Amino acid sequence: MLRLNNVSKHFGGLKVLQDVSFDVPEGRVFGLIGPNGAGKTTVFNLVTGLLAPSGGTIELQGQSLLGMPPHRITRRGIARTFQNIRVFKDMTLLDNVVVGMHAHLDYGVPGWLFALPSFRAQEARAREKARELLSWVGLEAKAEDIADNLSYGDQRKLELARALATEPRLLLLDEPVAGMNTGEKTELMGGISNIARRGYTIFMIEHDMRFVMGLCERIAVLNFGRIIAEGTPAQIQSNPDVIEAYLGRDDEDDEDDAA
Ligand SMILES: Nc1ncnc2c1ncn2[C@@H]1O[C@H](COP(=O)(O)OP(=O)(O)OP(=O)(O)O)[C@@H](O)[C@H]1O
Ligand SMILES: [Mg+2]
Repeated sequence: MLRLNNVSKHFGGLKVLQDVSFDVPEGRVFGLIGPNGAGKTTVFNLVTGLLAPSGGTIELQGQSLLGMPPHRITRRGIARTFQNIRVFKDMTLLDNVVVGMHAHLDYGVPGWLFALPSFRAQEARAREKARELLSWVGLEAKAEDIADNLSYGDQRKLELARALATEPRLLLLDEPVAGMNTGEKTELMGGISNIARRGYTIFMIEHDMRFVMGLCERIAVLNFGRIIAEGTPAQIQSNPDVIEAYLGRDDEDDEDDAA
């Protein structure tokens, strides 16, 4: 589905990514892990066109994404959620998801068009689809609630439903369970497995090891901008370089993760 080949990214003299290569297989859940500052979010920023790589190639189903602006990459079938929640807090959940769909609704700009049956039919279909996506993440009962009143966990689920609204082939999740309690994590794990079973390809960054190991079929490990391991959860957990990368650092978060 997605192939990175020898990707590098430099910010001035800072080499944030060096020779990063891996494949995200179609229809699978793929994880990218690594200590804080390893370059994980930068990988997502390159894949979604927010940043241009300093070297290497990035392909979606064999076609290069290089030089494409973010909105064209969205149309090609890549959607993402962010490490920090980005929902419209004064809108209902349903409207949040409908807004996410607009990249794919093709109605004209003039005001009179909004009265046309074709527009109204499309809008009705959009709302119906939005309700369905909310049900996938377990939020259908709260569809008419204002997003600002949601718990943190529910806001993250809403963000996931909104990412799905662009009908992506590839869904990028940046730390989907960050800040969630155990109950919320378990719920979201169920939601993501459901989405994966529907045939979506999921590529996630996550620090929660139980979550990553439970959901991902393959995992790549980034350390100081380089891939140090790639394999199944069992292979990753027993890889000495990976253990060293996590335990060899003087960082409280990472020690928690390794534990
Ligand atoms: N736009 C930018 N300009 C300069 N430096 C940047 C930029 N984006 C990221 N960096 C630097 O690149 C390094 C990797 O950052 P990145 O956000 O990709 O790490 P990460 O693996 O996602 O970390 P975390 O687990 O804390 O989210 C950091 O040193 C960061 O400060
Ligand atoms: Mg990050």
